[in-house]
Amino acid sequence: MVRIAPSVLSADFGSLAEAVGEVAAEADWLHVDVMDGHFVPNLTVGPPVVASLRRHSGLFFDCHLMMTNPGDYLEAFRRAGADGCTVHVEVGETSALLSEARRLGLRAGLALNPETPYEAIDPYLSEVDLVLVMTVHPGFGGQSFMAEVLPKVARTRQELDRRRLAAELEVDGGIDVETTPLVVAAGARVLVAGSAIFEAPRPWESARAIRRAAEEALAGAPVESPGP
Ligand code: DX5
Ligand code: ZN
Repeated sequence: MVRIAPSVLSADFGSLAEAVGEVAAEADWLHVDVMDGHFVPNLTVGPPVVASLRRHSGLFFDCHLMMTNPGDYLEAFRRAGADGCTVHVEVGETSALLSEARRLGLRAGLALNPETPYEAIDPYLSEVDLVLVMTVHPGFGGQSFMAEVLPKVARTRQELDRRRLAAELEVDGGIDVETTPLVVAAGARVLVAGSAIFEAPRPWESARAIRRAAEEALAGAPVESPGP
């Protein structure tokens, strides 16, 4: 099973609830990118926006905290209605952050940047509910997928399976119908997609197309079937 997680980063922030409503039927999770202008050179949203969205959506809120000090905000995100919070391994204090997230009742995720080696997350695999392998440099939507990260996705899948760990394996950045077969073949099972969904004229159709591409890749079916 593959989960599709549209990223609201590329949605119209002026009518966010409406944008989320348009993709809700095709989405498994909603990915919320939190940027602090410090860990990444961009600013986005915080707990108040999560709380507002919570009133309009019953989707699983997958909050991706691109922040230097996520520990100061985990409780606020939980109160706002986040279901999962993912912190970056690059900010340190990883075990403490993961156990604090779980103590608050959040699903605890651990993310790593493209240039961070697999070995950085290896010690924490048994402490996480989700691993997020970034397939672009974090900070902005609409960037090109970095194929060089695929071996790290595959390595993470291999280790999760070898240790019989049930953590989700999520990829984020440059995911569309072209790159979906590559990440699914490498072992990813949660696909975050921002611009490919929200910049399309009919976002729900794009989400559905990504899901179809993922299911075909899972079934080992050819990615492009010949037309009639
Ligand atoms: C990037 C964010 C992503 C972003 C992906 O820093 O973490 O979630 O929304 O956007 P696309 O799908 O456009 O690469
Ligand atoms: Zn993200």
